[in-house]
Amino acid sequence: MSDTDNAIAGETGSSTQVVKPPFVANPDLPPHGARRTDVDPKAAKRAEHQVATCFGLSALATVAFCICYVQIPIDAYLPIPFFGAWSASNLALGLTFGLAAFFIGVGAIQWAKKLMFGGEVTQMRHPLASPPEAREEALEQFWAGADESGFAQRKIVRRSLLMAMSLFPIPLIVILRDLGPLPSDSLYTTLWRPGMRVVLDPTEAPVRPSDIPVGGIVSGMPSVLPAVQEEQGTLNARAKDVVILVRLAPEDIKSQQGGTSSQPWDYQGIMCFSKICTHVGCPIALYEQRTHHLLCPCHQSTFDLADSANVVFGPAARRLPQLPITVDAEGFIVAQTAFDQPVGPSFWERA
Ligand code: FES
Repeated sequence: MSDTDNAIAGETGSSTQVVKPPFVANPDLPPHGARRTDVDPKAAKRAEHQVATCFGLSALATVAFCICYVQIPIDAYLPIPFFGAWSASNLALGLTFGLAAFFIGVGAIQWAKKLMFGGEVTQMRHPLASPPEAREEALEQFWAGADESGFAQRKIVRRSLLMAMSLFPIPLIVILRDLGPLPSDSLYTTLWRPGMRVVLDPTEAPVRPSDIPVGGIVSGMPSVLPAVQEEQGTLNARAKDVVILVRLAPEDIKSQQGGTSSQPWDYQGIMCFSKICTHVGCPIALYEQRTHHLLCPCHQSTFDLADSANVVFGPAARRLPQLPITVDAEGFIVAQTAFDQPVGPSFWERA
């Protein structure tokens, strides 16, 4: 038996038991061989030049990046076949910066593979925990450092430091302002006003009750919406002011969100509801005529239009707001009043 075998074998009673060695066995990797650059000085010199060339190209690309940044106008575009017009500045900056990083990477890899020390080394591990004496010493040093800094004794320094550190994160909150203007009352209001016509979305045609048969549903919007959109240059109003008009047989209507017998919120069975889901704001128009249910395609919230648009299924927390309607002197459907509550997803007004 060899010395190694002796080291890993032990006696247990009368039988010999093999004890597993406390190291990882050699996985039969081939023995390490010398690289060409280790034995041929000319090859080493060539590799050195390759590495230097890569680093040199990276430096050139960096200089080109700076020149492009200063020289190329931000509004210059290049026609690229099949891709259309690309910003010349973005293209040049991306290419030059990418090349600078690429050549640094290639140079470093070549350097490591061909020129750095290529032998194999074995790193002996020792227990990771520090010995008790070292830990005690570290603690002593910590408290000595705290004493020497005067953190405990110099109250004014300590307090001013704490004040500075507690204020330091505030800029991170302040820059949230860049996310856009505060919503002010726009979360609570819509464009709907008393007497405003409902027009079809997107044809903008005003609607007469006879345009909607029993069981029918149409998408509408306030008549002023197209002009407001053009003036504001945004689709914000469209995102919340759109409505649906649905016509039920009057005897099928179980309840509405308001109105009296002399002034109901519907007009001859035609009811108007916000089209924006009260869950997270998807536009809804999947209507099942037989059950009078309106289904949101996003997370399947279901609203019973015959019963005040109450939620009968899904994650929405409140019903769809109803807009009271009537007809004007010319017989077109108009709003009786504005919405009496915010439309769209629930927020703190419901907390
Ligand atoms: S947005 Fe309608 S259910 Fe989620």
